[in-house]
Amino acid sequence: MSDPKPTYLHDYRPPAYRVTHVELSFELDPAATRVKASLQIERHPECMAQEALVLDGEQLTLKHIALDGQPLGGGDYALTETGLTVHRPPASFRLDTEVEIAPKENTALEGLYLSNGMYCTQCEAEGFRRITFYPDRPDVMATFSTTLIGDRASLPVLLSNGNPVERGELPGGRHFVTWHDPFPKPSYLFALVAGDLQKVEDRFTTRSGREVTLQIWVEEENLGKTDHAMASLKRAMTWDEEAYGREYDLDLFMIVAVNDFNMGAMENKGLNIFNSAAVLTHPHTATDAAFQRVEGIVAHEYFHNWSGNRVTCRDWFQLSLKEGFTVFRDQCFSADVNSAPVKRIEDVSFFRTAQFAEDAGPTAHPVRPDHYIEIGNFYTLTIYEKGAEVVRMLSNLVGWEAFRRGSDLYFERFDGQAVTIEDFVDCMAEASGQDLSQFMRWYAQAGTPEIDAHGEYDYANAEYRLTLRQRTPATPGQPEKAPLHIPVRMGLVGSKTGRDLPLTLDGESLGSDGVIHLREEEQTFVFTEVAESPVPSLLRGFSAPVQLRFPYSREELAFLLANDSDGFNRWDAGQRLAMLALDDLIAAHRNGVEKVMDPRVVEAFRALMAHGGDDKAVLAEMLTLPSEAYVAEQQPRVDVEAIHAARRFVEQSLAAALRDDFLHLYQDNHRDTPYAPEPEQIGERSLKNVALGYLMAIEDEEGIELARRQFEADHNMTDVRQALTLLTHSSRSDLADPALRTFGEKWAHDPLVMDQWFAVQVTRPQPDALERVKYLMTHPAFSLKNPNKVRALVGTFANQNRINFHRADGEGYRLLADVVIELNRLNPEIAARLVTPLTRWQRFDEARQALMKGELERIRGEKLSPNLYEVIEKALA
Ligand code: TRP
Ligand code: ZN
Repeated sequence: MSDPKPTYLHDYRPPAYRVTHVELSFELDPAATRVKASLQIERHPECMAQEALVLDGEQLTLKHIALDGQPLGGGDYALTETGLTVHRPPASFRLDTEVEIAPKENTALEGLYLSNGMYCTQCEAEGFRRITFYPDRPDVMATFSTTLIGDRASLPVLLSNGNPVERGELPGGRHFVTWHDPFPKPSYLFALVAGDLQKVEDRFTTRSGREVTLQIWVEEENLGKTDHAMASLKRAMTWDEEAYGREYDLDLFMIVAVNDFNMGAMENKGLNIFNSAAVLTHPHTATDAAFQRVEGIVAHEYFHNWSGNRVTCRDWFQLSLKEGFTVFRDQCFSADVNSAPVKRIEDVSFFRTAQFAEDAGPTAHPVRPDHYIEIGNFYTLTIYEKGAEVVRMLSNLVGWEAFRRGSDLYFERFDGQAVTIEDFVDCMAEASGQDLSQFMRWYAQAGTPEIDAHGEYDYANAEYRLTLRQRTPATPGQPEKAPLHIPVRMGLVGSKTGRDLPLTLDGESLGSDGVIHLREEEQTFVFTEVAESPVPSLLRGFSAPVQLRFPYSREELAFLLANDSDGFNRWDAGQRLAMLALDDLIAAHRNGVEKVMDPRVVEAFRALMAHGGDDKAVLAEMLTLPSEAYVAEQQPRVDVEAIHAARRFVEQSLAAALRDDFLHLYQDNHRDTPYAPEPEQIGERSLKNVALGYLMAIEDEEGIELARRQFEADHNMTDVRQALTLLTHSSRSDLADPALRTFGEKWAHDPLVMDQWFAVQVTRPQPDALERVKYLMTHPAFSLKNPNKVRALVGTFANQNRINFHRADGEGYRLLADVVIELNRLNPEIAARLVTPLTRWQRFDEARQALMKGELERIRGEKLSPNLYEVIEKALA
C-alpha cells in the first residue's frame, strides 16, 4: 500500500449526494453480524447528472446491493479498499446494501465491537464506515430508523438513538427492537448497544414542562455506582437551561457504561456511550478527582446535544467548533457548581503543562488545522483545550450578555445544519458589533504566543508605563506568524497598600481590574494618576493562552502571593516564586554545588498556612509545587535528573522547616464525617492530603503513622489512594509492600480500582519502577486490548514517572516502543496517542535524543497504521 495521503481543508466540496433517511437493521452475531442499510438519496441540484455516488466503507463484506429494488450488476458499481462507487445513479433513489462484519475481531474499538460480551459502537470520527457503506462525513445529515435483532437470553437489552417504536419476538429465541431518531444527524452520532445490562432510571422536567426519562445502563455489579453521574446529569440539564437557554429535545436520554473505550465518552444522539471510568463512582472506589471528572464529562457530553448535535461541524477541520465550545461550556459549569478559582487553577495548570508542550513539539497544529492524514490524531489538547481558551477569550472580549446573544443566534440560525468556525464567530461579531477579524488568527496559527513584559514607574508624573511585546515561535509548516489580538486582564497592586489601584489609560477609567488589548507586535500602555509604585498583576485568570514573562523579583512575587485580589494570580505568583527557587537548585545540581533552600519560599509558605484565605482547595493548590513536567516545560533543555532532584529538595526542605505547621494542617482538616463529593469536603481532603505528602517527603515518623492509619481506616478512596501512594512511593518496602498487597487483594474484582493500583505502583520514584511495569504487564488484570489498562500502566509510567521513563540507559523508551508496536496492530488510535512522549525528543540532551529517535525509527520500520504513520513522520521530520 502507498503512503497515506493528507486531506486538505481547501479541498472541501459540498456533498454531491445527500442522504435524507436511513433504515438500518442489525442481525447481531460476534463473528458475522449482518447489516442491512436502506438509504434514501438525493443528488444535489447543482451537480452533474453523470456524477458517481461515492460511499465510504472499510472492512465490510458486501453481500447484496440494489437500487430502487433492482439488484446492481458488476458494471453498475465498483468496490475499493476504502469504499463503493455507484456509477450514474438517478437524481433521487433508494440504495439497499447488505454487508457482513465481525465485531469480535474488532480490537481497534472503532465501528461495532464487543466489550465484555456487550455490543457497542464508536463512530466518531470515521467509524460508521466500518458498519455500512455510507457518505461518512458530518455534512450529510439524515433521520435514522434502526432495528436490532439478537438473542433474547444473552442480549436482553437492545438500544439505539432516539425513541423505541416497536419490539417483538422472533423465531429461534431471538427478539428485536426498532428505534427511530427524528433529528437529522451525521453518521458519527449513530450508536447502538446490545447486551445484558441493568438500568437506573430517573426523570427530568424541562423548564417548558416536557418530561424526560433518564437512564444509565450498566453491568449488574455496577448498579451501585451511578448516583453521582445521574445527579451530575440533572445538574447539567438545569445549568444549560439557565446559562444558555437550551433544553433537551427527546423523551429519553440514555448513558451506557462500557469497559473498553478509546476516549472518555461519546455524545451519540440520545445514547451517550461512556468509558466506565468516566461515569462510575462510589466513595470507596473513586477519588474526589474522579468524582469531579465524571461530573465534567457527563456535562460535556450532555452539552454536545446542542453544541455538536443540533448544530454540527461541516467537516472535521471544524472539530473545535463543537469541542472548544463544549469544553468551555463544561468548564463554566464545573466552576459554577464547585470552587471556581480551583477549577481555573486545575485547568490552567494542566493546560500550561500539556498543551504548551504539544504546541512546542513536532505535532503542533492550529485550533483549526488545514490538513490531516488521520483525523483520529486531531482529538488533541489544542483542539479541545486551546479551542476552549479561544472561546473563553471571545466571551471576555464581547462580554457575557453579547456572548449569550451570539450563542442564541448561532443555535437558532444553524439548527439542523453542519457549519464552520466562521459561522460561530460571525454570530459573536454580529451580536456584539465588534470586529473580530484579527481575532480569527487564533484559529489559524499554531504555537504558544510569548509575551515579554516590563514596566517602569515614573514617580514625578505618577505614571506607570507597561510595555508588552508578543512573538509566536515558528511551528512546523508555519515559519512566520502575525501578531494576535491578545486580551490581557490586569491590575496594578499598590506596593504600600497591597490594594488594586484605579486604572486610567488614555484618560479612560478601566476600574481596578481591567483588560488591555495587545494587537501590535509591541505596545506601551501608559497608566496615569498612579498614586504609588505598583506591582503589576498580569494575565489575571489566564485571560489568554500565552506564556507571559515579567522580570519579577522574589519579593514582588511573595507580595503578590500575599496580596493579589485575583485568586488565580495569587496562585500563579506562588508558582513563579517556586520556579525561581527551582531554577537555582537545578543549576546547583548541574554544577555539583551544594543545594541551598531559598528562605523566602519557606517564609511565603509559612505565611500561606498561617493566613492563606478560606478556600481550602485553593490553599491546597498554592501549597503544591509545580510538577516535574511543568518545570521541564519551562526549561530550555530538559535535565531530567536535576529537575527531579531540585523538586525533591524543595519539597523536603519545606517539609523539614514547616513540619509542625503541616502536622497541624493535617490534624485540623482530618474528619470522619460521611463522605460527600462536595466542594467544602473536597477542599479539606486536598489540604490534608497535601500536608501528609510533605510529612511523608521526609518520612517523618508521625507522618508515617498518619498515612498508615489513613490507609487502614479505609474511609474513602481519596484518602486511601493518597495514603497508598505515599506508602508505595516511600523508600521503605515494609510500608509499600503490605499496603499494595492488601489493596490489590481487596479490589482484584474491580477493574477501575485495579487501574489505580497499577498507576500508583508505576509512578514510584524508586529505580525498580520500570521492572515493575514489565512485571505488571503479565498480571492477570492487565490487558493490552483494554485502553484503560494500557493508559493506567504504560501511559502513566511514560507521562508521570519522568525520572524512570527517561532512564539514561533508554530502557524506558524501549519499553514504550515495544508496546506501541504491538498496539499498532491492535488499536491504532491508542498507539498513536501513547507514542507522544517519544515525539518530544528535541527537548532532551543528545544522548537521550539519540535513544528516543532510535526507538522512533524502530517503530517506523514496521507496517504502520495511518495514525501512527502520521505521528512518526512528523516526529522524525
Ligand atoms: N466527541 C467525543 C467527546 O468529545 C470524543 C470521542 C469519544 C472520540 N470517542 C472518540 C473521538 C473516539 C475520536 C475517537 O466527548
Ligand atoms: Zn466533546
